[in-house]
Amino acid sequence: MMLIDSERISRDIETIAGFNETTPEIGFSRPTFSPAWRKARDYVIAQAEAAGCKVRIDAAGNVHARPAAIGWDEKVWLSGSHIDSVPTGGKFDGVVGVAVPLEVLRAAHLAGRAVPLELIVFAEEEGTTFGIGMFGSRLWVNREGPFAENGDDEFFHQFRNRAGQTYFEAGAAHGVRRGDLAGERIEPEKYRGLIEVHIEQGPAMWAEGTPLAVVTAIAGRKQYKVKLLGVPNHAGSTPMRFRNDPLVAAARVICGVDEIAHKHGPATVATVGKIECQPNAVNVIAGTVRFTIDLRSPDAETLETCHRQIEELVISSYHNFNFLTTEDPPPVRMDAGVCAALRRAAGGTIVETVSGALHDAAILAPLLPTAMLFVASKDGVSHNPAEFSRIEDIAAAARALAELVGER
Ligand code: HGY
Ligand code: MN
Ligand code: MN
Repeated sequence: MMLIDSERISRDIETIAGFNETTPEIGFSRPTFSPAWRKARDYVIAQAEAAGCKVRIDAAGNVHARPAAIGWDEKVWLSGSHIDSVPTGGKFDGVVGVAVPLEVLRAAHLAGRAVPLELIVFAEEEGTTFGIGMFGSRLWVNREGPFAENGDDEFFHQFRNRAGQTYFEAGAAHGVRRGDLAGERIEPEKYRGLIEVHIEQGPAMWAEGTPLAVVTAIAGRKQYKVKLLGVPNHAGSTPMRFRNDPLVAAARVICGVDEIAHKHGPATVATVGKIECQPNAVNVIAGTVRFTIDLRSPDAETLETCHRQIEELVISSYHNFNFLTTEDPPPVRMDAGVCAALRRAAGGTIVETVSGALHDAAILAPLLPTAMLFVASKDGVSHNPAEFSRIEDIAAAARALAELVGER
């Protein structure tokens, strides 16, 4: 009998939270390939090995762990998520989806069983270190996935971290091997399906008192980089009629993006979360303004409509601009069969929901029967050190996963 232990889950979550590039008061920060991220990954690997697993790191830098008694070619369930974080994130985002399958593997090992389950830890899910989300999972599926830049790794070379390193340069010390990518793509026939356990990161489940929910679809996302190129000038001696201030233009775009999302709500959201202004001085009219836009909707048509409206807004905002789409994963439906299996395993009573947040599951869903299991987030707060989920709810998710993978 596999006995899920919530104490062990809690210990994993707290230990991983301790690997932090900043302080808990500011948040939990584990940029991909940072020392804190590497310590967290080494911890997960050590725990998996202690649970009788063998471990490998694929050429994209994702970690795979399965019971040593089960050959790498045997068909198993895949379950996992990420341990990288946004700059000042919470303890639970991604980590829950790693701790749950880890606990199932551990409980099975202690019960003398080798369950058909492979834990995967995807690299650079957040995209806040290299500039595109689900980096490790995209590389793993690159040739087959709908987001594949037709197998062209050059596409991935445009993304760099703060130090100016590409993913491949920075990742080389952590198992990333660009030359081996082509030979180590995902082989879908070796998996029965993917189940990603994740916190909801929204308010509904907590408010409705539902600890678990089956995710039936993941919203599509378009991310943009906008650059407005003006000329810096003196704040005091330049009359208003001579100005063409890109920061004022950016403000109009930001308000316009907000209006577009409101008009197409409530499932459509848009965010300008990052803005840089040069020279960024109190007495200088802005020269260059750079900002990002993050647009999401579960409905493909709405995404396209909003995309066109945002594009028109940016084009009409300033005479000299760049408008680059850096991401555009479409909305994706989860697999009805795996959703049903999850509902059965969780006791049949749980609700369904749609994910506004994106996950590696969205990258794999076109290739593998995929579903997600959500755990309620306190007041829906996430990407914030106040992020919280109840350990007993996370343990309930682990029991559901154990039930599903243990099903004959
Ligand atoms: O941005 C997201 O949806 C996720 O947190 N990566
Ligand atoms: Mn996440
Ligand atoms: Mn996140």
